[in-house]
Amino acid sequence: MVLRLSGVAAGYGPKTVVSDVSFTLEPGQILAFLGHNGAGKTTTLKSIMGLLPLRSGSVAFDGQVLGRMSVADRIAMGLRLLPEGRGIFPDLTVEENIDVVAARNVEAGAMFGIADVYKLFPVMDERRATRAGSMSGGQQQMLAMSLAMLGTPRCLMLDEPSIGLAPNLVERMFEQVHDVCKSHAMTAVLVEQNVAAAMKIADRVIIMNNGAIVFDGLPDEARASDFWSYF
Ligand SMILES: Nc1ncnc2c1ncn2[C@@H]1O[C@H](COP(=O)(O)OP(=O)(O)OP(=O)(O)O)[C@@H](O)[C@H]1O
Ligand SMILES: [Mg+2]
Repeated sequence: MVLRLSGVAAGYGPKTVVSDVSFTLEPGQILAFLGHNGAGKTTTLKSIMGLLPLRSGSVAFDGQVLGRMSVADRIAMGLRLLPEGRGIFPDLTVEENIDVVAARNVEAGAMFGIADVYKLFPVMDERRATRAGSMSGGQQQMLAMSLAMLGTPRCLMLDEPSIGLAPNLVERMFEQVHDVCKSHAMTAVLVEQNVAAAMKIADRVIIMNNGAIVFDGLPDEARASDFWSYF
């Protein structure tokens, strides 16, 4: 077990927007985490990452209950969130972005060092000297993904990574995520509007509606379920 949520509730101000969210993910598993706009997907990811305090329940990573552990410490443990709308430094070059994050996250014996990331994303190698904010949406997304991979990602959460990407790039990016999951026992959580692309690599599906999990099962079961008409 890599990640375990037990009865998680979270929200903003007076409003609790997700409640009683429970699931467990195993190493190498790829979860398609689906649901309508406003269902509570991003809120759930933020509470796993420690960006939003839990109102009840618990999140455990690698057998350790995270409690009020800082975001930085969660990253050091291998939890990674690629946020909706990206997390890059737009005024730095691609190389500077990678160097800054590598200095923080790449430890001795890490799964992915700087050279590995350039190998995974050759376009970033070509763009080393380019200011990140001046690149296309797709290239910025690829940079965000490169930054998330640096170090030893053990659970990579991607919040709508395909936004702004051409369909063939989406497929290639998802294939890469799939390959890393299977070769390095990395777990992935994929929040995605492009349901078809996510379903190609997912081996588990959770559907959220109105802040609660309404389906949890295998991709084939999801397709056969009543909830599939949502999409
Ligand atoms: N910062 C915030 N302050 C107050 N309410 C928020 C905030 N962020 C989200 N919400 C509300 O919480 C609910 C869940 O939002 P959330 O962003 O988790 O949904 P989502 O499933 O990620 O949706 P989407 O597919 O549109 O990204 C929504 O009703 C939203 O309006
Ligand atoms: Mg969202």
